[in-house]
Amino acid sequence: MTAAPEDATGLSATSATSATSATSATSAGPSAAEAVVPLAPVPATKPQVPVEGRFAGTVVLVTGAGRGLGRTIAEAFAVEGATVVVAARTARYGERTVRKFRERGLSASLVLGDLAERADVSKMFEEAVTRHGALDVVVHSAADNAQGLLAEIDDDALDYLLRSNVHALHWITRAAVPHLSRSKLPGRMIFISSGAANRVFSPGLNAYGSTKAYLESFARGLAGELGPLGVRVNVVGPGLTVTERMLSHLTHAQADALASSYPLGRAGLPEEIAAAVVFLASREASYITGASLLVDGGASMVPFPARGAMSESASH
Ligand SMILES: NC(=O)c1ccc[n+]([C@@H]2O[C@H](COP(=O)([O-])OP(=O)(O)OC[C@H]3O[C@@H](n4cnc5c(N)ncnc54)[C@H](OP(=O)(O)O)[C@@H]3O)[C@@H](O)[C@H]2O)c1
Repeated sequence: MTAAPEDATGLSATSATSATSATSATSAGPSAAEAVVPLAPVPATKPQVPVEGRFAGTVVLVTGAGRGLGRTIAEAFAVEGATVVVAARTARYGERTVRKFRERGLSASLVLGDLAERADVSKMFEEAVTRHGALDVVVHSAADNAQGLLAEIDDDALDYLLRSNVHALHWITRAAVPHLSRSKLPGRMIFISSGAANRVFSPGLNAYGSTKAYLESFARGLAGELGPLGVRVNVVGPGLTVTERMLSHLTHAQADALASSYPLGRAGLPEEIAAAVVFLASREASYITGASLLVDGGASMVPFPARGAMSESASH
């Protein structure tokens, strides 16, 4: 079978936002048991899908969209007219995101679950498709970032890391592909990797980085498998990016200082990562699949200090 060229003019414009709260979804994550205020039903008169935009009439599911990069990515698609399904582990973050999107007249709904649980993954995708009738784009941004030295990381942390970051790739793919292959776009998948996959190395993050290396290889293989169905699969690899979580540990200026040796000399912004994701999902990227795009301000080109320089600075 040969995939037809992409044609954004053939998009369905029927994806309606559910007026019901998604808060009944299973949520097995560590912090998912937090109390949730149900989302108010969307007034029938309020337009929920912007009529303009490259993704008008499409349904885009983004994992890890309750906060951080995932939320900014979901917002970028919603502003381009998509109905976004915010997939979140922690209910209060997902609720907040959907509420804020709806306040701006953007179309969004919520599914809750822990990607480390196979049953949660299939339930989230089933809910999304039942509610909206289609699935056109999946962006997998969620990731556990367990820290620990390779020789010391404990079994529980490792098990959760591997289920969240490796097993979930397979579960998400299994749940998404039957719907993406029926999409009129046709379907696209974007996986969020990291420069830590194989370009830069951070002490304590090598187990996490190794899961991203698995993700990169997985996505390339998947692009090969899904190309004949017309489904494109690509990867975006952020470098140091100033997210909400990062700002809880250091200031924006400190993040920029950490990135001062990069060719672009500063940390990245979530919007700069989201722009790359939206591009790869767009019609403009219709001949791109199996690609991995670093969006890191050139961080991967920064040479490690010479061994001598390192021992010299350590002695001061
Ligand atoms: N920020 C950076 O500098 C940077 C650099 C390179 C790559 N990245 C990648 O960018 C993506 C987003 O990172 P971020 O900076 O936005 O991190 P973040 O603020 O920590 O967000 C991570 C998101 O993933 C969710 N998550 C983690 N484990 C999950 C699980 N088992 N099931 C469901 N959701 C889970 C979290 O849910 P909760 O809200 O419940 O915690 C959170 O929403 C990740 O793939 C990360 O590896 C980020």
